[in-house]
Amino acid sequence: MKKTANQMLVIFGASGDLTARKLVPAIYNLFKGGHLPENFVVLGASRSNLSDEDFRKRVVLESSYLKNDLKEAAADVIEAFANKIFYTDLGSDYDTEYTQLAERITTLNSEHGTDHNYIFYLSTPPSLYEAIAKNISEQQLASEEKGWKRLIVEKPFGYSLETAKQLNDGLHKYFKEPQIYRIDHYLGKETVQNLLVTRFANSIFEPLWNRNYIHHVEITNAESGGVEKRGGYYDKSGALRDMFQNHLLQIVSLVVMEPPIGANAEEIRNEKVKALKSLRVMRDAKTLHENTIRAQYVSSTIDGERVNGYREEEGVDPDSTTETFAAIKFFVDNWRWADVPFYVRTAKRMPTKVTEVVIHFKSPHHQIFRDAGVNDKANKLVIRIQPDEGILIKFGVKVPGQGFKVERANLDFYYSSLAETHVMEAYERLLLDAMQGDATLYARADEVEAAWEFVDPILEYWKNSDEKVYGYSAGVWGPENSHDLIEGIGEWRNPSKNLADDPGFCVIC
Ligand code: BG6
Repeated sequence: MKKTANQMLVIFGASGDLTARKLVPAIYNLFKGGHLPENFVVLGASRSNLSDEDFRKRVVLESSYLKNDLKEAAADVIEAFANKIFYTDLGSDYDTEYTQLAERITTLNSEHGTDHNYIFYLSTPPSLYEAIAKNISEQQLASEEKGWKRLIVEKPFGYSLETAKQLNDGLHKYFKEPQIYRIDHYLGKETVQNLLVTRFANSIFEPLWNRNYIHHVEITNAESGGVEKRGGYYDKSGALRDMFQNHLLQIVSLVVMEPPIGANAEEIRNEKVKALKSLRVMRDAKTLHENTIRAQYVSSTIDGERVNGYREEEGVDPDSTTETFAAIKFFVDNWRWADVPFYVRTAKRMPTKVTEVVIHFKSPHHQIFRDAGVNDKANKLVIRIQPDEGILIKFGVKVPGQGFKVERANLDFYYSSLAETHVMEAYERLLLDAMQGDATLYARADEVEAAWEFVDPILEYWKNSDEKVYGYSAGVWGPENSHDLIEGIGEWRNPSKNLADDPGFCVIC
């Protein structure tokens, strides 16, 4: 196990939802698992006037997000954890002199022996990132003369290529790139990391992982939920910015990348950037029209209950054309992937919550059992990211009896079968990596920019053309015509929440 140095985690935006919902529970799990260093302190900072005690109550003692965990814990364990947590009020503005904050950090550092090692976690709107980085740096808190300093930033990393570059340039004025950790929580998912292992720790997949054997690649990210209380944010963002530019292109890069020389952060990230740069950027209107589909959910009745349409959601413009469904077909211009189409879609308010990668293999070159129904039974490798995490291979077997009738059978592996292993939550894993200085699962500046290079023209086209925004009833697999994108190949594989169920399979309860 890697050693974690003594350190302090300073969270900006600490009174916000993310701290209580994700960060503190992740830190608590690290604490319970014995992963925190001997000397470790969390310092929350934001614009709310709270004492250390108030903050501890809010994020630990009275937190609904920790309630279940704390039920099982002894009082002295809870107290020991809560006592690691402190709070500082930044006043009315994040863009202010951080003298008081710096004093608090210095005092906590000497009282708790955190060896001048600080992580600054920015859980604030991105418009504040540069100002916060500047104010941290003005107090010499970004300097690594004594101890290391790291900056974790949450998505979105920009709103477009230009704003992403501005953000990167802004942060680079105060922090060097190796100090910056851009969090993409999908990279914290075990099953996303397992894409690397499936490909590069086995000798049976990689020889087939190319245009000679793969017919097309399909990635689905579906959510059954709507925009919930985030309508205000989402309406300015849309599915392409919210999920595709970051999480889904990260998955794409892991599917597309060449084998890295080794497993260190830069070796892996270099290959991911190369992969993203090889996506063929679509620029002309005809290509964009033929290869992209956007849509928005409209109200419907699910399980007997009326569900709001997107335009009725809180914080959403009643005339909004923001997409809650996006499907993109594209090609990868390199030796390995020439002419292999990739189909990627993401949406809210679909029938179920599921994320999976499906590698569709070509049919055998010479078909002996041509009349036996094998044609539509080409092999598939399904990598299930969530839920029912696992891997499924679909292959042909002979139906017992006379002749050669072929049926498709499943060979499956489920993560749940490794029950003894505690699977870390994404934030838990990512925080621990940052605490240990491992940036492998964080996005690098050039990676983020390469993703925007691909996405920008699509967004521009959608904004400036009269490309239709289709409607789909909440609770279905997007608009009917999304199948047109896959024309000639078939249809999207509409997965069930269970990995091995075939499309069309229905789980009633
Ligand atoms: C977030 C998006 O990054 O990811 C949300 O902003 C989305 O809109 C969420 O719901 C999905 O994450 P997960 O881990 O539940 O698939």
